[in-house]
Amino acid sequence: MYLKTLHLKQFRNYHDQQVEFVAPKTILVGDNAQGKSNLLEAVELLATLRSHRALRDRDLVLDGEQVGQIQATLERHESPVDLALTLRSNGRRTVSLNSETLRRQLDFLGVLNAVQFSSLDLELVRGSPGERRNWLDTLLTQLEPVYAYILQQYNTVLRQRKD
Ligand SMILES: Nc1ncnc2c1ncn2[C@@H]1O[C@H](COP(=O)(O)OP(=O)(O)O)[C@@H](O)[C@H]1O
Ligand SMILES: [Mg+2]
Repeated sequence: MYLKTLHLKQFRNYHDQQVEFVAPKTILVGDNAQGKSNLLEAVELLATLRSHRALRDRDLVLDGEQVGQIQATLERHESPVDLALTLRSNGRRTVSLNSETLRRQLDFLGVLNAVQFSSLDLELVRGSPGERRNWLDTLLTQLEPVYAYILQQYNTVLRQRKD
């Protein structure tokens, strides 16, 4: 599976940016605050529907706008796939696969697989058990999307026990 194109519309600091990945490897180079991490965050969102640095979708949408979108084309063994995630400042999301809106966001997971490594990952060994669990949850959700559903149920039960 290869990420071939990425189209960022009103996502973070990007107004309308199409990116094509033509080489086997890509290195992003840029000044501070130009949007390197934002681009990686877009890929992370397509892979996991989560961002490790945004708490609310409002932060992901270009300032002053209501709606943003991340689109991508993947090359896969079988056939190419189009993915789109629409983010709204009110928090409602829409996900689509090959231009078809999915009723369950769960079906979006596991299509694009990504691994992220940063210096913060040292927290995996040095940090709290909570951080390790969170990391494992993200990994398992990609390998086995139904895990996202089980996790959601588990968290609901956990919350109810505390109430
Ligand atoms: N929702 C947003 N709307 C507009 N700009 C944003 C938004 N979120 C972040 N930014 C801008 O994105 C820039 C940071 O981009 P980032 O990808 O973290 O930079 P870097 O290239 O250093 O990794 C900052 O200038 C920040 O103001
Ligand atoms: Mg950065």
